[in-house]
Amino acid sequence: MAVNETPLIKMLPINGVNIAVREQGQDNASGIPVLLVHGFPFDHSMWNRVFDEVGFEHHLRLIAPDLRGLGASSLPDGAGPTSMEQFADDLFAVLEVMNIRQKIVLCGLSMGGYVAMQYMQKYGDTVAKLVLCDTKTTADSPQVAENRRLQAQNLIDKPGFLSTVADTMLPNLFAAKTLTEKPDVVQEMRTLIESNNPRGAAAATLGMANRLDSTEYLKKLDIPVLVLCGSEDKLSPPAEMKKMANQAKKGEYIEIAESGHLPPVEQPTHFVHALRDLCFSCPRP
Ligand code: MLT
Repeated sequence: MAVNETPLIKMLPINGVNIAVREQGQDNASGIPVLLVHGFPFDHSMWNRVFDEVGFEHHLRLIAPDLRGLGASSLPDGAGPTSMEQFADDLFAVLEVMNIRQKIVLCGLSMGGYVAMQYMQKYGDTVAKLVLCDTKTTADSPQVAENRRLQAQNLIDKPGFLSTVADTMLPNLFAAKTLTEKPDVVQEMRTLIESNNPRGAAAATLGMANRLDSTEYLKKLDIPVLVLCGSEDKLSPPAEMKKMANQAKKGEYIEIAESGHLPPVEQPTHFVHALRDLCFSCPRP
């Protein structure tokens, strides 16, 4: 994208909400569709460096929605928990509305990975290759689920509680070098968290607390699964992610040095290198 060019964001009415989608790349059959699913509590802009890095020359069609209730995507009044399945249904509808008929490369980071595993269970025949980035297939322990319920209540009850969420999350999100040498990146992610919709964040938090274990499903997948992990990820540590890669029949593990939980933000060049290699490896989508 040329400097200062505004990214193309579409608003798509889907399943009773408006879903914002950033799109870039070839919209014909020769562009490989790559669906990028963000983590919590972020939005599509956590992929901005990936869009910049890919540019237009690589025949990748990048599609990065804001999940319902997050970023610029809406949430119905009075909505309860947003299940990972609901997020997955929205993504499928986005691709339908965009008339994408080719098999996609599906890439989910952290909560986006939970959504991706739900997507695979319902719509797996539309996916050629899967990228699981800094995520897990296990469900929450009862204690973690309980903490999430408390957090969701605080998000609803206490104005500005997303700042508290940011205070707690940020030190655990990044590699040591990112924290010391890239304060702009850390600040950008703080702003992203704090400007999110508390109601949407609460709904997603409850949805994560309710999600089921998808490990057995991962073991059955018969497509290439790239497991990407920041070498300093404290939330989805390398040892756990290596195990996931071994559980998948066609799993591959790549560790990204000097990155914590957010390789597309902290090390976008290395992230895109791995993504591109997967997309152009045989069989091509
Ligand atoms: C994320 O980055 O999406 C979160 O760390 C996921 C989670 O809270 O489990």
